[in-house]
Amino acid sequence: MHKPRPVRDADVDGKRVLVRSDLNVPLADGRVADDTRIRASLPTLRLVLERGARELTICSHLGRPNGKDPELSLKPVEEHLRDLLPDDRLRVLENTRFNPGETKDDPAFAQELADGNDLFVQDAFGSVHRAHASTVGVARLLPAYAGLLLEKELTELGKLLGDVERPFLLVSGGAKVEDKLEVLQNLGGRADTILIGGKMAEEIRAENPLPFDVVLPTDVVAADTFAEDAESKVVPYEALPEGWLGLDIGPETRRLFAEAISKARTIFWNGPMGVFEWPRFAEGTKAVAQAVAAADAHSVVGGADSARALTELGLADEVSWLSTGGGAALEFLSGKELPGVAIIPAA
Ligand code: 3PG
Ligand code: MG
Repeated sequence: MHKPRPVRDADVDGKRVLVRSDLNVPLADGRVADDTRIRASLPTLRLVLERGARELTICSHLGRPNGKDPELSLKPVEEHLRDLLPDDRLRVLENTRFNPGETKDDPAFAQELADGNDLFVQDAFGSVHRAHASTVGVARLLPAYAGLLLEKELTELGKLLGDVERPFLLVSGGAKVEDKLEVLQNLGGRADTILIGGKMAEEIRAENPLPFDVVLPTDVVAADTFAEDAESKVVPYEALPEGWLGLDIGPETRRLFAEAISKARTIFWNGPMGVFEWPRFAEGTKAVAQAVAAADAHSVVGGADSARALTELGLADEVSWLSTGGGAALEFLSGKELPGVAIIPAA
C-alpha cells in the first residue's frame, strides 16, 4: 500500500502552507449543522500553526454547485472554524467548486491554488477519491504531504485490509448498492460473517452476484407506500405483500444481527438498515449502531448515514474509528487507488 509522507516530516517553519481539508459539511439556515469534519481537520491545522507556519491557507469544496452559488459559500464554515481555531495567520478560500476548473483538474486553477504557497498538505480524506485540481493538480505543483487525518484514516481503514482478529464481520446496507458490492467483493472473501440490510438486501436476494454466502433479513417492516406516515406492519420477508416495500429490518432480524455483531472481534459497518431518517423505520439501524458500539471489537464505521445514526444516539465515541469519508472509504476498501493519495510522494 502506498504510504504518503506525513506532514510531521515537513519543515513548515516560516513557510506558507496550503491545506486541503474536507470541509464539505451539512448546512442548515446558513449555519453549520454538523461540524464533525471541521473538528476532524483541526489537528493538522494546529500542528502546522504550532510548528511556525507564516501563513496557513485552507481550501475545500462544499456541495456540488454549478458555478458560483451563495447557498454553498464556505463563509459559514470559515466562521465556525475561526471560532474553534482563532489565529491571524489562517485564511479560508472560497468553495473550490465555484471554479469550473476544480473538477476538471485544470492546471490553471491548480496553479492559482499553488501560487503564494511553499508547500501543500492533503488532509481531505473524504475527497481523495476525486482527481480534482485541489486534490491532485496542486500536489503536482507544490511539495505535498499527508495530513494527520488522512494518515489516520488510511491506517485505521487499512487494518481491515490486513490481518484481522476473528470473527471478522461486515454489516452493509443503504443505497449505492454498486459501490458497496465492490467492497464486499474485495473484503467479503476474508470475512467470517456478512450481514446485509436495507436496499442492498433486496438486490442480493433477487440475485447474489457474490461468490460467498451472506446473511439476509428474515423479517421486514413493510410499508404500503414510500412515505413517512405509510401504513406499516412487520412481516416475514417471504410474506411481503405485493406492491409493499420493506423499509426496515424487522425485530427478529435485529436480534439475529445484534447477536452476530456481539460475537465479532473485527467489524466494518457501512450503510443504514432502512429509511432511518423516518423514526418509524429507524429501529433496525439503531439496533445495529448499538450493537456495533457495544461490541468488544475493533469496530470501523464509514459513510455519512451510519455516522449520523451513531452521532444521534450519542455513540460516536464508542466505536474504534468513525471514518470521515463515505465514497473515499468505500473506494479504499474496494482496493482502488485513491488519486489524491497516490500523488503524494512516499514516506
Ligand atoms: C463527501 O462528502 O463525500 C466528500 O466531501 C466528497 O464529495 P463529492 O462526492 O461531492 O465529491
Ligand atoms: Mg466498542
